[in-house]
Amino acid sequence: MNAAIRAVVRTGLDKGWEVSGIREGYAGLIAGNIEPLGVRDVGGIIQRGGTILGSARCPEFKTKQGQMQAVRNLRQRGIDGLVVIGGNGSQAGAHELVKQGVSLVGVASTIDNDLYGSEMTIGVDTALNIALEAIDRLKITASSHQRAFLVEVMGRDCGYLALMAGIAGGAEAVVIPEVETDPEAVAAELRTAYGRGKSHAIIVVAEGARYNAEGLARYFQDHRELGFQLRVTVLGHVQRGGVPSAFDRLLASRLGAAATDFLARREYGVLLGLIQGEVSATPLSEVAANPKPLDLRLLELARVLAK
Ligand code: F6P
Repeated sequence: MNAAIRAVVRTGLDKGWEVSGIREGYAGLIAGNIEPLGVRDVGGIIQRGGTILGSARCPEFKTKQGQMQAVRNLRQRGIDGLVVIGGNGSQAGAHELVKQGVSLVGVASTIDNDLYGSEMTIGVDTALNIALEAIDRLKITASSHQRAFLVEVMGRDCGYLALMAGIAGGAEAVVIPEVETDPEAVAAELRTAYGRGKSHAIIVVAEGARYNAEGLARYFQDHRELGFQLRVTVLGHVQRGGVPSAFDRLLASRLGAAATDFLARREYGVLLGLIQGEVSATPLSEVAANPKPLDLRLLELARVLAK
């Protein structure tokens, strides 16, 4: 997100505009926590995860009063254009502001990669690489001790991170919310892997799956002999806040720069994301109305490659 903030600030200033940052997302917009940003204020942040502006879950913004207060603050400060960097919640909020006449563009940013209108969102690549590093390490203990690891990754209700981490990490099984998984089938996969002489098993589990890592562990402990001793690792927030990958820095720089271009051309009400390698704009009304489907052919790929 920092790379995107930096790109918005510097390309905005380059256009001769004044640029301000809103602290803590919509909470700061409602509270009027808005400060001017200069070129040097965004120096040395491209390599830092997170956001220098802060972020917050803001239930108040879901109310009409909250939104009206936000619009009032924008008008009072003479702000002509807004850039909203974030995931589904942020972009749904952005869509509400557009309906109230705010001139804004959205920038696709979430580690969950569940945002319609962008094949990749800012943060996904970094979070995926962190999950992979953990899986690679866990595999070493798993092999040395003949263990199975249930590794739970984030992603909210979306299985993207789990599926990609499973394929790239060479997992024996992947469990995602998009597909109903019978724990019995996972147990059978593990027993077959053990039977084939595997010295370890990694099962990547999405946090949003009906059986999360703890749930599966309980099931296996109560019901099944797997061949392996079982351990559970929940990666949790460790997946966030890492040093942004080159891919994420470039994506964020491109999307942030495009955001000020769109504002300059008065092309408002769109989400900027990456489609087929190009920066692309999708109306926020479409983004708000559509879920992003996960390519489930990749689950079959994960299964075949696990042999
Ligand atoms: O949406 C991003 C995300 O990291 C999800 O993957 C995760 O479920 C959630 O946020 C965690 O939210 P919080 O930091 O509020 O616990």
